[in-house]
Amino acid sequence: MKILAHGLTKDYGNNRAVNGIDLSVDNEVYGLLGPNGSGKTTTVSMLTTLMRPTAGSAVICGHDIATEQSAVRECMSYVPQDMAVDIRMTGRENVDFFARLYGIRDRHERRRRVEDALEIMNLSDRADDLTKGYSGGMRRRLELAQALVHQPEVLFLDEPTVGLDVAARRSIWEYIVNLKNHGVTIFVTTHQMDEAERYCDRVGILKKGDLVNEGVPSDLTSQMKSVITIRTDSHAPLKELPEGVALVRDENGEIMVTSDNGSESLPAMLALLNDEGIKVYSSTVREPTLEDVYLQSVGKMNSDSDGFNQKQFENMMRRR
Ligand SMILES: Nc1ncnc2c1ncn2[C@@H]1O[C@H](COP(=O)(O)OP(=O)(O)OP(=O)(O)O)[C@@H](O)[C@H]1O
Ligand SMILES: [Mg+2]
Repeated sequence: MKILAHGLTKDYGNNRAVNGIDLSVDNEVYGLLGPNGSGKTTTVSMLTTLMRPTAGSAVICGHDIATEQSAVRECMSYVPQDMAVDIRMTGRENVDFFARLYGIRDRHERRRRVEDALEIMNLSDRADDLTKGYSGGMRRRLELAQALVHQPEVLFLDEPTVGLDVAARRSIWEYIVNLKNHGVTIFVTTHQMDEAERYCDRVGILKKGDLVNEGVPSDLTSQMKSVITIRTDSHAPLKELPEGVALVRDENGEIMVTSDNGSESLPAMLALLNDEGIKVYSSTVREPTLEDVYLQSVGKMNSDSDGFNQKQFENMMRRR
């Protein structure tokens, strides 16, 4: 296992940010999901030795985060949530700066690694330009190049696609998956459920510091039922339901049910309505997505950004 954690816990004063989580991650893209303030960055900070756990332990590439910090740092790279490239330097200078930080002293070795990292992230052409002129996507790629110059076995990425357009997001994820295919273990946090579903081998869902759900995205979604919605001309409640179908609601002609197998249950539902002489206007079957799993796991109102303080806002506007 490249990442192994037991009962990892962090308190900030009286606030428990991470509550005894267990992790085991190896040669995969592992996505840590969770609302704002659920403890993702705190978890990554502990695993990368930037912050000491209050309790529990973790081992990265066989090295203990508490007692072998330099060995841990030796085998991994970390791209923080709010990392910035130095806009007064060129792309190459930025990567070289990191190579020096990582202690690569041999000049030839350092140059080779810098050129390799730039090449991998497809930045060689623009390596001599000041990064001031780089797009958001290029800057993110440069941050990855900075991390790669260290040739990490484990790469920690905190929200790598935030603020990027659709094409740049996809490109970053393709680089991430490629690195995984070349043996790098990736631990990534994200708020993008669709991206996690598509690119992560496994995900863990944090809710207020607890790891409340974990698994392969397709396993998590297949454990959820498909959702069938049918609009009809009948306002009378349904008298019966086919096998394996559960009613969610039946109001004003709109029937919503869940079923273990939507593609079998929809025809059964339609046949039943037909027998009862009810006219169907439209019907949809939706397979559950990782976002459905996520919302079910964390609850719809479970972010520290919830709860707009109306009164405070009015006070503020009054003071203008
Ligand atoms: N340095 C700190 N000192 C005190 N409390 C902190 C500190 N860093 C984080 N916290 C608190 O710990 C909890 C977890 O924060 P953390 O930044 O780990 O969440 P997150 O999941 O990364 O959120 P986001 O999605 O917004 O990045 C929050 O309640 C936060 O306010
Ligand atoms: Mg964070």
